[in-house]
Amino acid sequence: MLTRGARGVLESYVMSNSSGQIFQVVRQAARIEEIIGEHIALRPAGREFVGLCPFHEDRRPSMYVSPQKQIFYCFVCAAGGDVFKFVENYHKMSKGETLRFLAQRYGITLPEFRATNPQAASQRDKIVDANLWAAHYFQSNLAGNAGKAAREYLTSRGVHAATIERFQIGCAETQWTALATAAGKKGISAETLVSVGLVKSRSDGSVYDVFRNRLIFPIVDSSDRVIAFGGRILPSAAPEQNTPGQTDTDQEGPKYLNSPETALFSKRETLYALNLARQPLIRKQLAVVVEGYMDVVGCHQAGVENVVATLGTAMTEQHINLLRRFCNRVALVFDSDEAGRRAADRAIELLLRYPVDVRIAHVPDGKDPCDFCMTHGGEAFEKIIADAKDSLEYAWEKMYTAFQASDSLAGKQRASEALMRLVAPAILNASVDPIRRGLLQKNIADLVGISSDEVHSRIRRLAVSAGRQSGGSGAANPDAAPAMEIDMGLQRAAHWIIGALLCDFSLYQEFRERITVDLFSDSEMANLLARLMEYLEELPDLAAGNLAEFVAVLDDPAMMRLAIQAQAEAERGGNLKQKIDDSLNRLEELSVPRARENQKLDSSQSVTDDADRLKTVVDARMQAVKVNKLQRKLGPRPPGG
Ligand code: GTP
Ligand code: MN
Repeated sequence: MLTRGARGVLESYVMSNSSGQIFQVVRQAARIEEIIGEHIALRPAGREFVGLCPFHEDRRPSMYVSPQKQIFYCFVCAAGGDVFKFVENYHKMSKGETLRFLAQRYGITLPEFRATNPQAASQRDKIVDANLWAAHYFQSNLAGNAGKAAREYLTSRGVHAATIERFQIGCAETQWTALATAAGKKGISAETLVSVGLVKSRSDGSVYDVFRNRLIFPIVDSSDRVIAFGGRILPSAAPEQNTPGQTDTDQEGPKYLNSPETALFSKRETLYALNLARQPLIRKQLAVVVEGYMDVVGCHQAGVENVVATLGTAMTEQHINLLRRFCNRVALVFDSDEAGRRAADRAIELLLRYPVDVRIAHVPDGKDPCDFCMTHGGEAFEKIIADAKDSLEYAWEKMYTAFQASDSLAGKQRASEALMRLVAPAILNASVDPIRRGLLQKNIADLVGISSDEVHSRIRRLAVSAGRQSGGSGAANPDAAPAMEIDMGLQRAAHWIIGALLCDFSLYQEFRERITVDLFSDSEMANLLARLMEYLEELPDLAAGNLAEFVAVLDDPAMMRLAIQAQAEAERGGNLKQKIDDSLNRLEELSVPRARENQKLDSSQSVTDDADRLKTVVDARMQAVKVNKLQRKLGPRPPGG
């Protein structure tokens, strides 16, 4: 897709060799709100969008994305920049990888490109290339002779060809070295294959395939790279004897085998099929988390696409933070067996600590979500999700049962303690409906035979200590509002000048004779102004100035933060020209007494002060030279200006 005149600028880009221009072309084509909106859920807020910042553990939306300025900015962690910066940080890509990613997204073809960090990038490239090749290899296995048993198995589970295609499902051959041999022919080194866990080496140096006779589920990350594989064992007996659930004994190795952790793959941070589920779960504002690969496949095939799975591990904090970027409701759908119940309990405990609306459901009749969808269809599954129990209610029922079951007082006390401990973080969590909280509190009070107030104060105590234990990240410790670091007086004036210039670069023309770096007492502000002047002086024309570009060239988080804050404030503050004028007046006034001080110093002739004075003079001189050089292009300054 080409937007914003990408086609028009394409020619100039092809003609140029300067990488700066390439970046500019892609920056012009890309729409930051579109790109960021594909990675985190954004909602409109005035002329901007806000969402949960993916670069820190954000509790309330503090990331702003401005379509107009083409920048993003987090008011809590100060992450910010242009669309390149976002992609680079989000996907942990190099500059080159980022360029390729965005160019591809907007249909811009790039010439041969050299990575900025060849070693790290080439290591990642190798992993990605090898995995991509292997994914295709497994897919073609499934389509060919070697895939007969796997195809029959998929058919027996009701998986359609289109689904197989969508999930890029493949299979591994039964032989020990099929993949290793095929990869060798393609020039992929055994070393690379070992590093991504596709083959293992024996002590004699020979290698063998890790995945054999398995159904293969490629695990794809949010930038569509194959980062790992999950392999499900295939029944070796005749397929007609294999009804699901009864075929998993007497096989070689575990039922599922995952790729090992690599630079690109971490089980704790990855959710299966998030690449396919991302848009649907942003749209529905609900993430459904199931336990198995096959469950995801079955749900998606039944038309329920906001479904992801953990990779054979319990939910982790990273998973939650990942999901919270997209939506604030999570439904966990577990198998109806004992393992499913245990998994639900573990997950609740973790999820209650976060401002996420968590619901729990179990698939009825001893089925898993996949089989349920195959038998009853997507709508029936949606109903299970809709009827999912509120996690507090779920916890309550569980504890109630335990409470009733124990006939000793101590047992009852333990049960109520356990319940209070479990719900404590949620009780003080603002995102939990107060009515539900109140009800729960009353239920506990009735059950345990103490007053509701007493329940509340006990829960409060527990919540506070839980918050402390988790290093202040508990729900009892909400974010403090981001403080704007603006002083009065000098700093404020400097702030306004820079902010106003950033709102309208053409104002520089008008005030250039009065704006000098030495008016700024604050060194950070002075630095920023120097960088801004440098940037403006390099422009062929002030109208060519671009805020996102300037922020990007700063390439320093603290300076970016200053610039973006100053700009945002000036924008709200009314007449820009007036602002600059007033601020300059103020700074000039204040600089007169300062100049007198300096003169006094000069006439004191103190020898001990000489070195200091010399340094001051040299610094001022250097500054002046720099500024003069910058201003030369715009014509001579009036004498004494
Ligand atoms: P079916 O049994 O075919 O329905 O597949 P499933 O994907 O639903 O698997 P199951 O419900 O048995 O297990 C749920 C998930 O737990 C799987 O998708 C795997 O991620 C993980 N898992 C199950 N068994 C193993 C195992 O032996 N080893 C590992 N590493 N993970 C497993
Ligand atoms: Mn299953």
